[in-house]
Amino acid sequence: MEIIHVSAECYPVAKAGGLGDVVGALPKYQVKMGHNAKVVMPMYKTRFLYKNEWVVDFKGRANLGDWWFDFTIIKEKHNVLGFDLYLVDIDGLLNREKIYGYDDDTQRFVAFQIAVITWLNSWQHKPDVVHCHDYHTGLIPFMMKYCIDYSYKLSGIPSVITIHNAQYQGWMTWDKSVYIPRWDAWKSGLLEWGGVINPLAAGIKSAWKVTTVSWSYLQELRESANGLEALFEYEKGKCVGILNGIDADVWDPAIDKYIQKNYTIDEVNAGKEANKLALCKEFNLDPEKPLVIFIGRLVGEKAADVLPDAIMSSMYATSNGVNFLILGSGETHVEWQLSSLNHQFNGNYHAVIGYNETLSHNMYAGADFLLMPSRVEPCGLNQMYSMKYGTVPVVRNTGGLRDTVVDMGDWQGWGIRFNNASVQDITYSIDRAVEVYKDKTHLNWMRQHMMNLDNSWEHSVQQYLNIYKSLK
Ligand code: ADP
Ligand code: GLC
Repeated sequence: MEIIHVSAECYPVAKAGGLGDVVGALPKYQVKMGHNAKVVMPMYKTRFLYKNEWVVDFKGRANLGDWWFDFTIIKEKHNVLGFDLYLVDIDGLLNREKIYGYDDDTQRFVAFQIAVITWLNSWQHKPDVVHCHDYHTGLIPFMMKYCIDYSYKLSGIPSVITIHNAQYQGWMTWDKSVYIPRWDAWKSGLLEWGGVINPLAAGIKSAWKVTTVSWSYLQELRESANGLEALFEYEKGKCVGILNGIDADVWDPAIDKYIQKNYTIDEVNAGKEANKLALCKEFNLDPEKPLVIFIGRLVGEKAADVLPDAIMSSMYATSNGVNFLILGSGETHVEWQLSSLNHQFNGNYHAVIGYNETLSHNMYAGADFLLMPSRVEPCGLNQMYSMKYGTVPVVRNTGGLRDTVVDMGDWQGWGIRFNNASVQDITYSIDRAVEVYKDKTHLNWMRQHMMNLDNSWEHSVQQYLNIYKSLK
């Protein structure tokens, strides 16, 4: 099958979070299973790109309202990522330092989507499926079906949209409708939700199939979806939950090129200890005490605002019997609060504010526990990576965390789960972590058990393939 993934992120070219990881892995595993998967994404100013050789695949011209723009689509020549990668260059608009966060993000991502469908419209043949990811690509299923200059050729091609995060929907006021190529006027309702143009809602309404990145998240969306609850209830017949996998080429402690000491399941305790010692040395932590880490965006969804108080409370409750190492960036006041604890808990705590891929790998390898108190977690990759590295996940009972982590109660599971993103629940859970850390037999059993879990992409790829086939 020929599968075209359209995304704003793809690891290692551009990653802001889990979306990048998924779009860098899913197509690779589809290719490994004998399919022809391609990724098309914006061209940003990314250092990774300079190492590769590129050929021009297509040059086009399109308009965003009354602004005409030229664009070029280049293709990576040597298939280094394991699939065909195409970058859309719209000079000045996409080619910036950051992926998101500009005032003209609406224009940037609408222009990107128009460039992609203009390119697809120029093909001699039809791909089997166009697979869109999140709101930045949510207008594509609508445009393929109903935009007059494209629908003749593209309306028969199945489209799928995967929702990695329904919090972000890309709202546009109606005056921006001029950016969208001419469409059948009586289809305008498909663009709208809550009085504005809502690209994510348009994608859900117009795509042939909708997937979410875990089963529990799909259930939760019908009750809490940042305003789209009724839409998820209405469209439940075409929605499916498919759990993400982990890319074993990148996330495996036995071959991970970033970590201090590689280890297999048989050497997990010694391997983790060596990695922990290196981290403790670097960040002035106490290697005798359990090491709890948090890695992620410092935003409300991840309950990062609760962390400072929860950390202080856990320090007092355990008489500084635990270490915390934090890596993240996001809301300024949370960054500031977390950094200000560096001094107060010097020797048992350190917060690194920023984005650091290498450090993140070392943290999964060297930590004893990973804390994820997320208020919303569509899938969550951190907990899956941590399990692969024998690090016990301490997670809130929500979304993909609920689907992948089983509580250790009575030796049944391999993690610690709690219900509320509150100081009280986190403090209690850290206390449980400190207790299990003392019980080396139990801890060792959990480590071995987690590392043996199969969260590989193969299962999920098969489920996606079944969906594509059902649409033919
Ligand atoms: P989300 O996509 O909602 O941020 P996920 O758990 O799906 O959450 O994926 C997060 C990914 O981003 C993981 O690969 C994680 O290691 C990585 N990550 C998040 N914050 C940082 C950071 N500050 N430095 C390095 N990696 C990070
Ligand atoms: C989103 C979600 C996260 C998920 C990731 C990849 O960023 O917040 O839970 O793991 O997408 O699907």
